[in-house]
Amino acid sequence: MRSRRSCLAVPGSNPRFLEKAQGLPADEVFLDLEDSVAPSAKEQARKNVVAALRDGHWTGRTRVVRVNDLSTAWTYRDVIEVVEGAGDRLDCLMLPKVEDARQVAWLDTLLTQIERANGLPVGRIGVEAQIESARGLVEVDAIAAASPRLETLVFGPADFMASINMKTLVVGRQPPGYTEGDAYHYVLMRILMAARAYGLQAIDGPYLQIRDLDGFTEVARRSAALGYDGKWVLHPSQIDAANDVYSPDQDDYDHAERVLAAYEQATTVDGRGAVMLGDEMIDEASRKMALVVAAKGRAAGL
Ligand code: GLV
Ligand code: MG
Repeated sequence: MRSRRSCLAVPGSNPRFLEKAQGLPADEVFLDLEDSVAPSAKEQARKNVVAALRDGHWTGRTRVVRVNDLSTAWTYRDVIEVVEGAGDRLDCLMLPKVEDARQVAWLDTLLTQIERANGLPVGRIGVEAQIESARGLVEVDAIAAASPRLETLVFGPADFMASINMKTLVVGRQPPGYTEGDAYHYVLMRILMAARAYGLQAIDGPYLQIRDLDGFTEVARRSAALGYDGKWVLHPSQIDAANDVYSPDQDDYDHAERVLAAYEQATTVDGRGAVMLGDEMIDEASRKMALVVAAKGRAAGL
């Protein structure tokens, strides 16, 4: 699985940002053709994005392009121009506002045709699906199962809050007046369950108050605690915070490696299924939990 602790949004209509993004330490960079690009700039943005993928230096980063959603007239040309122009430099396409598994199947089929026609390896380009409406959430299980190309489900809080008429204008923070708990808990969990049931990553969406790093970190910690793999970042200042929050801390990582070593010794050398590690009883289920933390820690270079 690719690392996606920080997924940097870069408007495809802004060549300066496309240049600058290449020097930033985000795990994933997604070049946007959708909501950060004005309708009048859509066609030029496609050209900018193809040029940035072809000529830019993106080594080590997951390279994604977000196309327009299927209720618009732009989607098919977005896919064709980007994949024909730079398909060999692209890891995934992101499809926004997914509401139906057939939309993902459509993208899968179109990608296969373009790959065949252009001599690209069939099936290499992955898909990220944004869940950002009530309808998308209700259909999320079928969407998660729609294509072997799917790598992630991505929560889109701004569009989602609009879709359910949530009474707030601040994306990511709790709606004013809601003091009983976490207004996003159900949605985050629902997406996470569908993602894990089908072996996908789960990515949290943007926090729009880019000067409020404490607020960003608080919101990120919440989805990281549930098991989310990463979060969108809209500004360079959010990247380090995301990389930090979605990596295990050093103590937890060290502990996970100790659990794995002790359990390995217990089962293979001592022939036992459960063993004490300090005051803690560990068994096969503890090994599975430790593997999750150890894998994330190793990926983060701890
Ligand atoms: C992202 O696309 C969002 O709507 O939050
Ligand atoms: Mg959106």
